[in-house]
Amino acid sequence: MQKYVSIHLDRTNSKPLYQQLFEQLLDLIKQQKIINNEKLPPIRKLANLLDVNTVTVVNAYRLLEQNNLVYSRVGSGTFVRIPANDVSNAQDTEEKDLHEYDVPELKMMDQGQVEISEDAINFASVIPAPELFPVDDFKIILNEILDRDKGNAFGYQESQGFLPLRESISSYLEQNGIITRPDNIQIISGAQQGIDIIAKTLVNFGDYIITESPTYTGAIAAFKSRGARIIPITIKDDGISIEKLEKAIKTFHPKLIYTMPNFQNPTGYCYSDEKKKALLELSAKENLYIIEDDSFTELSYDNIERHPLKAIDDNQRVIYIKSFSKIFMPGLRVAFLVSPENVIPDLVAAKHSSDVSTSGFIQRAFYLYLKKNLWKKHILHMKNVYRERYLVMLESMRRNFPDDVTFDAPGGGMTFWAKLPNACSADEFYKQCLESNVIITPGSLFYPDNHDTNYFRLSFAALYPQDIEKGIVELSKCYQRHAASPRLKKAEYTPLL
Ligand SMILES: Cc1ncc(COP(=O)(O)O)c(C=O)c1O
Repeated sequence: MQKYVSIHLDRTNSKPLYQQLFEQLLDLIKQQKIINNEKLPPIRKLANLLDVNTVTVVNAYRLLEQNNLVYSRVGSGTFVRIPANDVSNAQDTEEKDLHEYDVPELKMMDQGQVEISEDAINFASVIPAPELFPVDDFKIILNEILDRDKGNAFGYQESQGFLPLRESISSYLEQNGIITRPDNIQIISGAQQGIDIIAKTLVNFGDYIITESPTYTGAIAAFKSRGARIIPITIKDDGISIEKLEKAIKTFHPKLIYTMPNFQNPTGYCYSDEKKKALLELSAKENLYIIEDDSFTELSYDNIERHPLKAIDDNQRVIYIKSFSKIFMPGLRVAFLVSPENVIPDLVAAKHSSDVSTSGFIQRAFYLYLKKNLWKKHILHMKNVYRERYLVMLESMRRNFPDDVTFDAPGGGMTFWAKLPNACSADEFYKQCLESNVIITPGSLFYPDNHDTNYFRLSFAALYPQDIEKGIVELSKCYQRHAASPRLKKAEYTPLL
């Protein structure tokens, strides 16, 4: 009970006592003085200690419950639980709650690696097939740089990035509705590094970060490596609930919101224009930064115009990260971010302390590629290739999947988010598909605690149309077998009070 002695309730304060108690318990949780899965004191005992009515404690616990911060075990008491999927408060006790993968391939996948046999049908990989890389054009460009710049192409590069490249990016962005100066652009070695240096710059140990749920787990890993705690908010087909976001901001005072407003990974969902505006208004009101991770906006197949958040960021709250890995060549490790002016110096310093700079040679090559307009030609080509694969897959799923396996048509991106009936386990389904040499990504990989779910992601990025059709037929057969013996998921928690 020692830690609860520090709680001081002020009877002269107009704020109700239960509200004060709730806030102070929340502080203890935030400071990790009460850890995840720790039992809270029995109501009567805490009421005696604080010299308040038991109703005050009941109401405070009830508020914790409404914020998903506690759960009860029948007959045992009330335990702290940082919301639904959040296990970022990992302590010894917490580790036991993590979903341990017993399939080596899933463990590897969780770390972003997939081992694939040559004849497997790979719906897991969201990387363009190497045949789509513009190797010939790039060879000409590389030779031109070597002939022109000679050894100068291999010197140290300014940490913020090669200025002509930043200028070209600034013009490229203008065509996409984002007005920015080269001074506000930082070249990075991939979007993953962008997320990491933002976390390094803005996140302190114990800070809360709001993410969509499910989300890109590479971002979760980067945030957790800085000691951040994750507050996941479920994403729907028009974005996250603004009401839930407001509530989470009030409760947790987060440092950042991490979002993918267009063709979210893994769901493919896009925010509605209203939600985009609301997100920006809220971030301005609450003085919060938003990380916008944009990998797919260009890959829209339904002729609906979708703007990045950054294009309407009048209050300078958005740090925009653009990866080219999905539309160009991921191994180049080149991407950029656009930041509000006041954050840029710290981001440049964080970049410098990470890897000094992104390869100057590659930056020069990418600059020339943009300048010669080869970029536009390439994007158009990629879009056409992916549109065809998208349509083949959509049509094939509509034809082959049984009615109880559902999915949305996202209208762009490289993936579909599909749903098995509630009682099914996507982890189990993954194993069954693997036996048939078809690889899918189970939904559990996109939640911070890897909990099993009935969702899975299918990507068409690395597959030819004929293999897509073959793979979908095979998947449907796997599902028939799976449906004959579904593994029921067990409930882990019972609600409080
Ligand atoms: C949403 C998202 N952000 C960032 C990344 C990392 O991209 P990069 O290769 O540019 O580091 C990925 C890669 O899959 C991703 O899906």
